[in-house]
Amino acid sequence: MFFDFHCHILYGVDDGPASPSGMFEMVKSAYFCGIRKIIVTPHCNPQLFGFSPERLNEVYAELTEYCKSKFPDLEIYKGAELFAYTRFPGPISENLPVFIADGKKVLTEFLPDSDFRFVSELVTTLISAGITPVIAHIERYRLLSKNNVIALKKLGAVITLNASFFCKTGFFRRAKFLRLINEGIIDMVASDAHRPEDYGIYSDCYDFLVKKSGRQKADQLFYMNAARLFGDPS
Ligand SMILES: [Fe+2]
Repeated sequence: MFFDFHCHILYGVDDGPASPSGMFEMVKSAYFCGIRKIIVTPHCNPQLFGFSPERLNEVYAELTEYCKSKFPDLEIYKGAELFAYTRFPGPISENLPVFIADGKKVLTEFLPDSDFRFVSELVTTLISAGITPVIAHIERYRLLSKNNVIALKKLGAVITLNASFFCKTGFFRRAKFLRLINEGIIDMVASDAHRPEDYGIYSDCYDFLVKKSGRQKADQLFYMNAARLFGDPS
């Protein structure tokens, strides 16, 4: 069983599917690969894809209605992905719906060339406000060293990696992040799905990690750590 805490399933909200049928195909793929809990996390900065909370609520209601009849044991929750490119991200000050779970966690992505100083200052600001930053796709930030990632984790950030990265990257980079997984530095693996086939990659990544790191570690990364962090995310 998997917990998909980072995906772009809602249609017409961001760069996920463009139509209801695309959204339903995605949720079917998610369900049949073994996902039973989903937090939908559209990009929530209005500058990206013209995000609107009203639109999010409408499409989320459509998705939950569909799942109630088709997949009654699938739990769906509402979240967002915050693009943090300034020191105090606009959507937080504008009271946009950026928070997940108990209102104390935020899925956060940065510009790929963000440095440790910028990221650590933002993490510290959020932690001081009682908010836990869940850092999306840590593999994208090439200026962050392993020691930087450990330092962010010590500050209180949750470190996540995208499943697709494992299937697409070269041997040496994959080996590097596998070491971070085996050393307990990576907390969770995300689908970051934007299309139905991303869930095939997600379950391939689980199988790969079962082989390389053992089933217990793979289960922690794909379900248990998210369940512990988010609890009941409603
Ligand atoms: Fe994402």
